Amino acid sequence: MDIMDYRRRSQLPRKLFLAAGITALCFILFRQTGFNSTSQYFSRKEPGITHVLVTGGAGYIGSHAALRLLKDSYRVTIVDNLSRGNLGAVKVLQQLFPEPGRLQFIYADLGAAKAVNKIFAENAFDAVMHFAAVAYVGESTAEPLRYYHNITSNTLGIVKAMEAHDVSTLIYSSTCATYGEPEKMPITEDTPQDPINPYGKAKKMAEDIILDFSKTTDMAIMILRYFNVIGSDPEGRLGEAPRPELRDQGRISGACFDAARGIIPGLKVRGVDYKTPDGTCVRDYIDVNDLIDAHVKALARARPNNVGIYNVGTGKGSSVKQFVEACKKATGVSIKVDFLGRRPGDYAEVYSDPSKINRELNWRAQYTNLEESLSIAWRWQKAHRNGYSS
Ligand SMILES: NC(=O)c1ccc[n+]([C@@H]2O[C@H](COP(=O)([O-])OP(=O)(O)OC[C@H]3O[C@@H](n4cnc5c(N)ncnc54)[C@H](O)[C@@H]3O)[C@@H](O)[C@H]2O)c1
Repeated sequence: MDIMDYRRRSQLPRKLFLAAGITALCFILFRQTGFNSTSQYFSRKEPGITHVLVTGGAGYIGSHAALRLLKDSYRVTIVDNLSRGNLGAVKVLQQLFPEPGRLQFIYADLGAAKAVNKIFAENAFDAVMHFAAVAYVGESTAEPLRYYHNITSNTLGIVKAMEAHDVSTLIYSSTCATYGEPEKMPITEDTPQDPINPYGKAKKMAEDIILDFSKTTDMAIMILRYFNVIGSDPEGRLGEAPRPELRDQGRISGACFDAARGIIPGLKVRGVDYKTPDGTCVRDYIDVNDLIDAHVKALARARPNNVGIYNVGTGKGSSVKQFVEACKKATGVSIKVDFLGRRPGDYAEVYSDPSKINRELNWRAQYTNLEESLSIAWRWQKAHRNGYSS
């Protein structure tokens, strides 16, 4: 070994040390300029800006809510575990609102109490819109524990975190399934709640937790009981894209579109012997754009020490047969329909009396033409044959 060779070798540890130092410095700088400067917007209250946590914001209704809130200049944090939602929907929102401090996405499971607490500790939320849930009646009868955990227990976790971190406003996604199958139609907010499947029961229990808690707090609370949600963003940016494996659980609009696209051979209408005018179930179909408008109005009108409970529906029932006819017209496809026996957990007729929300929140459904709502949704479906991965 000559002297030169020895010197080169003796400098090697120093060079390695220097390289490691530079890498560490870059990493620290990156964290300070990139990561931390973005999260600063979300971790501090800013006068004039309302920061809303949208749980389940990668899902169908939550993503539409996030879009509307962002359009209306709210600051939005989406928390979702992507178990049922789509990262593609979040990406659309991020592309539309790329400015710092507008939108952040946090991947987390609301069942993980530590993670939830950390999210609330690190972010200055003014309000929570709690959409995240598993939400299929049929699935809930097959997997009740999953529903009680995901809906009831996770809502308890959210409310506890809100209390611990002084978040003042909760808008809760509930459902007409909490009413069960009332004798008298239309359903008002005073109709007794007697749910007949685990989905409805889990939501009713979550409501009860919120209502009991409301007696001990000055939190502003709005509970919105949605009827059957359809439609999508009229500008075609977002749509409904459930996991293919959930097709069988199917909501009716998804099944109609799948049949129209030939993904499934036809439609299976379950139950033709209900006590309704044409024997098929009657539902109140509410357009997602109207539904989100109700949330924004509820948020604006939410007051401390006050709980508002509202049905969100059109007040008009349509039968499954009528729905299928509207879907055929909207898609232009003559969908094959098979009529089968009843599905467990379904109820015959459900439609709302929306007069309370009309009166108190000055909200009224605007998209009341089934064919029009379905035509808008169909445009998105046609352009996104593989959902958000198209
Ligand atoms: N779609 C309807 O017709 C309807 C009717 C009445 C009420 N609702 C309620 O509206 C809300 C939204 O429903 P949707 O139709 O948009 O459903 P969706 O499945 O499209 O969205 C739910 C979102 O919540 C997320 N999520 C579920 N569990 C989670 C968890 N543990 N942690 C974090 N994220 C989680 C999912 O990944 C998904 O993105 C639900 O609370 C549902 O019960 C829906």
